[in-house]
Amino acid sequence: MADGQLDTTTVEAALAEFHDPETGRSALQQEQIRDIQLSGSELSLTLGLTTWSAPVWSDVEAALKERLQNQLPQLTAVNVNRVVHERRPHPLGEIGLRAKSVIAVGSGKGGVGKSTMAASIAVGLKRAGAKVGLMDADVYGPSIPHLFGVSGRPQIVEDKIQPVDADGMPLMSMGFMVPPGEAVVWRGPMLHGAITQFLRDTRWGELDYLIIDMPPGTGDIALTLSQLLPLTGAVVVCTPQEVALLDAVKAIAMFRKVNINVLGMVENMSGFLCPDCGKRYDIFGHGGAREKAAQLDVPFLGEVPINMAIRELGDAGKTSASFDDPALAPVFDAICHQLVSNLANSAATAPPMPQLPVL
Ligand SMILES: Nc1ncnc2c1ncn2[C@@H]1O[C@H](COP(=O)(O)OP(=O)(O)O)[C@@H](O)[C@H]1O
Ligand SMILES: [Mg+2]
Repeated sequence: MADGQLDTTTVEAALAEFHDPETGRSALQQEQIRDIQLSGSELSLTLGLTTWSAPVWSDVEAALKERLQNQLPQLTAVNVNRVVHERRPHPLGEIGLRAKSVIAVGSGKGGVGKSTMAASIAVGLKRAGAKVGLMDADVYGPSIPHLFGVSGRPQIVEDKIQPVDADGMPLMSMGFMVPPGEAVVWRGPMLHGAITQFLRDTRWGELDYLIIDMPPGTGDIALTLSQLLPLTGAVVVCTPQEVALLDAVKAIAMFRKVNINVLGMVENMSGFLCPDCGKRYDIFGHGGAREKAAQLDVPFLGEVPINMAIRELGDAGKTSASFDDPALAPVFDAICHQLVSNLANSAATAPPMPQLPVL
């Protein structure tokens, strides 16, 4: 303010267009900014953010402070008391799947690390503070139970499937239904039925994110999913070599064909840092996915190197423990952060409907 006036009205005016990252709406109007108090030139306020935006909480707080300092340079201090903003209970109560964002993790082919990435993104979002569920839609080769070292049959309680719990994260997988090592022969309608049950008849609870580990290749499951619920979009995992990138391009075309938004590409097995000599070996190449993403106008979310601990922890059913590894945690955290930042940016340009998707 030119005249240097400082009161709650000028502070409110400066913050009127500050948007909640999830809804893209004014945080002040939604009463997520409150308790505005001035003591001389020192400002304090409460900022309530939902658990959905947990991975970007510090960015949002920094942006709020920056805006205040730019618009009201006479402020000498801004103290933000960040709290969790509770959303209102869903009007339909306990019925069906209520997930704010449903994200499929797919690729053109198997063995590129889809399941590892789906599991790591789920764990990363959860560790940041979001409420996350993980569904294994790879009915032919379910690997989520193994990655988390959990087994057993989901219980049926009051006609609903109780998901299996992995450290507070609900999981659903065909691997819980079929004894390990047994082959299942699926025809189209059965496949559709199984996926429908996983979504509709499972007591997921209220989720910020449902992450779906997709089977490789064809679009059957993608089509089924896109008919069942409003998917937020898909993350495509690929390795850097040219042949794998061609498959990723096909996967992107497939998602686009069934109207699933592509949220980004991740390059997995992107180089290997030799633990003995510290030299970097680009076993499958490096950087190919980033280039391809730019060509296809798809966001690039990050790179994960080849790391023996990823394979060892996965085999040992301890996928979550990669977040205890200082070489790996920042890699997966960065991908989660980029993913949620991009979603928040889309919310800012096109605020989502107030109603949560209900199945
Ligand atoms: N970045 C990585 N470094 C080392 N091993 C990896 C990496 N990503 C995946 N793996 C391993 O590769 C194998 C295949 O990964 P997986 O996630 O099951 O692939 P997909 O679901 O695409 O078939 C697993 O043994 C997994 O532990
Ligand atoms: Mg898999």
